[in-house]
Amino acid sequence: AYVIGLPCVDVKDRSCVEECPVDCIYEGRRALYIHPEECVDCGACEPVCPVDAIYFEDDLPAEWGDDHAASNAAFFAE
Ligand code: SF4
Ligand code: F3S
Repeated sequence: AYVIGLPCVDVKDRSCVEECPVDCIYEGRRALYIHPEECVDCGACEPVCPVDAIYFEDDLPAEWGDDHAASNAAFFAE
């Protein structure tokens, strides 16, 4: 699945939401999150983010690290 990383925090541009054909991008308090099972890997959201927050999961910059992965998981665990 694609993942929204740290640059989205407190930016929340929401351009990605418009592009997603399966509406799997959800709004959290400080960032948006892609549902890992609902995402169909179409890639449509990735180029439209003005702060380049969106990556395929395997390509996420390592320096964004586990914190964001944890907040993603926590968001969908609620
Ligand atoms: Fe939605 Fe496609 Fe982005 Fe997945 S890759 S979140 S399906 S626009
Ligand atoms: Fe966030 Fe970029 Fe979408 S800032 S809301 S991931 S367009």
